Amino acid sequence: MNLFEKCVAYTLPQEVQAMGIYPYFTPIQQTTATEALIGGEWKVMVGSNNYLGLTHHPKVLEATERAALRYGAGSTGSRFLNGTLDLHYELEARLAAFFRKPAALVFTTGYQASLGAIAPLIGRNDHIFLDRLDHASLVDGARLSLGEVHRYAHGDFDGLSRQLARTPADAGKLVATDGVFSMEGSIVDLPRLVAVSKKHRAAILVDEAHAVGILGEDGAGTVSHFRLGNHVDLILATFSKSLASVGGVVAGDADVIQYLRHHSRALIFTASMPPASVAGALAALDLLQKEPERRTRLWENTRRVAAGLRSLGFDVGASQTPVIPVLIGDAFQAMATWRALFDNGVFTHPIIPPAVPAHACRIRVSMSAEHSSEQIDRVLAAFERIAESPMSFRAPEEAIKALAADE
Ligand SMILES: Cc1ncc(COP(=O)(O)O)c(C=O)c1O
Repeated sequence: MNLFEKCVAYTLPQEVQAMGIYPYFTPIQQTTATEALIGGEWKVMVGSNNYLGLTHHPKVLEATERAALRYGAGSTGSRFLNGTLDLHYELEARLAAFFRKPAALVFTTGYQASLGAIAPLIGRNDHIFLDRLDHASLVDGARLSLGEVHRYAHGDFDGLSRQLARTPADAGKLVATDGVFSMEGSIVDLPRLVAVSKKHRAAILVDEAHAVGILGEDGAGTVSHFRLGNHVDLILATFSKSLASVGGVVAGDADVIQYLRHHSRALIFTASMPPASVAGALAALDLLQKEPERRTRLWENTRRVAAGLRSLGFDVGASQTPVIPVLIGDAFQAMATWRALFDNGVFTHPIIPPAVPAHACRIRVSMSAEHSSEQIDRVLAAFERIAESPMSFRAPEEAIKALAADE
């Protein structure tokens, strides 16, 4: 078969575009913390991960500008060589303290932090165990490793226990989980996960991507929320959400971080976090710690929208956090719902396979501390219109089959 035949045959995006419901790669012309200018119209943004609303904070912007002027627009090199700035070390020290771990290592993205933390650790005779709903970056980190990958059904700790029991007692084992599941908005039952993992002497990694700035007394995430820091070996996080920047981190014991520093291909063979991004993350971390009232506002907004959606009759699944999925049905209905919300001035995301099962497609709403009461009214009014006239969108059979094949 010709290498490119599959590309020529792949016409699904064009077909969905022709239906007028293609939701992806939408060009944004300008943003505020809570709105986006798209096609010349301002939309309320409930499709970002700007949980604390810090992307446009004057202190964050000033810090990024100052860093760019001092260090340049890019680092032009790997952390290993010329790409380590004093700022990278400063951010690592601040994050190690924040997560209450002895050491931390900063990567260019959160995705790379997952690859860079997992792949080098899981060697040929080691085993990694992943929740079925773990983020793709954990899965890809596991796939890149030389060890054996096990997946357990979402939240099925008995299943996890059985899988752990079947692996050799002396093998290296790591259980890796999202702290807050990114498409569900639910919080992992960390006490149970810890109990099962410890019983089988498995190490634990928690990805705090959607929990930093949201959970825990100090905003440090799920591990802090459950006060289980002494039982969790590695903490992953990203700066692309509450920390208003881009980049990622793994925090853990000093010897583990030192090993990763010298064995992570995702760290060594790529350029480091750009200066402005490091400075932006540092400034955002400052604000996260100094202004806990942002977290309070985020939770107020979250509770109001979740309750509003429920009272309109929507199923928001197992959401316990500012990530609020609105279950719709099949992928085309979800995309048509996305379009109707968009036309009503609200920017969301339809979540379709392979991110979720074909029958459980959803609109993903995510809240920010900076959403105003008036913006929330607009979001709920748009959903009310959907509730009054639900989508009766029917996609052509062929398109449904093609999409199902993607799952
Ligand atoms: C749970 C989780 N982990 C990791 C990542 C990757 O983070 P980044 O966007 O910094 O690459 C994401 C981002 O979508 C995520 O949701």
